[in-house]
Amino acid sequence: MTKPAPKDWILGISPYVPGKAAADDGRPLIKLSANENPLGTSPAARAALVAATADLATYPDPGAAKMREAIAAAHGLDPARVIYGTGSDELLHIAASAYAGPGDEILYVRYGFSVYDIAARRVGAIPVIAPDADYATDVDALLACVTDRTKVVFLANPNNPTGTMTPREDIARLHAALRPDILFVLDQAYAEYLDGDEDDGGMELAKSAANVLVTRTFSKIHGLAAERIGWGYASAEIIDALHRIRAPFNVTTAGQAAAIAAIRDSGWVDASRTHNRQWREWLAAEIAALSNHGLRAVPSKANFLLILFEGKLTAEAAMKGLWDEGYATRWLPGQGLPHGLRITIGTAEQVRAVAAKLRAMAEAA
Ligand SMILES: Cc1ncc(COP(=O)(O)O)c(C=O)c1O
Repeated sequence: MTKPAPKDWILGISPYVPGKAAADDGRPLIKLSANENPLGTSPAARAALVAATADLATYPDPGAAKMREAIAAAHGLDPARVIYGTGSDELLHIAASAYAGPGDEILYVRYGFSVYDIAARRVGAIPVIAPDADYATDVDALLACVTDRTKVVFLANPNNPTGTMTPREDIARLHAALRPDILFVLDQAYAEYLDGDEDDGGMELAKSAANVLVTRTFSKIHGLAAERIGWGYASAEIIDALHRIRAPFNVTTAGQAAAIAAIRDSGWVDASRTHNRQWREWLAAEIAALSNHGLRAVPSKANFLLILFEGKLTAEAAMKGLWDEGYATRWLPGQGLPHGLRITIGTAEQVRAVAAKLRAMAEAA
């Protein structure tokens, strides 16, 4: 051995592919490729962030006490059981690290969030992929994949990249059927886009069950993706385990301040949700009108639509055509969706421009 060798399972990882911000020739594009908030950041959160940069020489509060209290107050939770991460990504990784290792299995659905594969392989665990039901989560198929070696189940709800929603009854049924020693990670990155009556009951489960971790993010509806702030809720025992391996000072001072102001600005969240619902439904109707050209949108409860191209116009051609209009969308061949384009719901003007271009391309194909 003449040089350090990474573990085999590390070399088995395909690096995360971020949403594009430019065309292949370097032209900058408007990003509808990473499910960010097209309305931006709450002015109150921005002001809090700027004020917090007055002191850059001191480490952030390692316990994020004020941020945990603000999150707990907004959601009716125990602040001692709120964990935080450098994005919810960190929480997904440390959940896998704390509960699985070489030879263990980590289970998630086909067309699940791509970080689950990385989180599993990174700790030497075996990723196990359950079949979907027309792009949606199939609880029975997921349960059929559980083995004695299953240690963690990841499920995003609403799911990315499909936007599909697993209803409350199915989440309860899935949880009830999982062995109690399996950690059930319910990734609610897009939960704020749901109407109240669409809640999947995950946070209630996390309050009482010993094996449920719910994760949330400030990157989506709160418009703070640049700051990398996520949080989660679980039993005191799970939170204790995660604290042992999270990075020290994992949320910056400015990030903590911005998150506190953002979670208190319910007006911004409500306006973002209302905008998203209106334009998601509008775009879905436009795509439905192109069904004779082989386009269809997977039913979505998130801030994006997965559009399937099953006619003459291909997803790749559509992506490139949208570059010419100045828009980046997410083509997903690496996730088994060479026929899929995931498009974030942008401003009204952006959504209209995207729809018009898709129509023109579909009709010309
Ligand atoms: C389902 C899901 N979970 C988690 C994340 C990670 O978000 P962040 O690390 O910014 O909190 C994303 C981001 O796209 C996501 O789609």
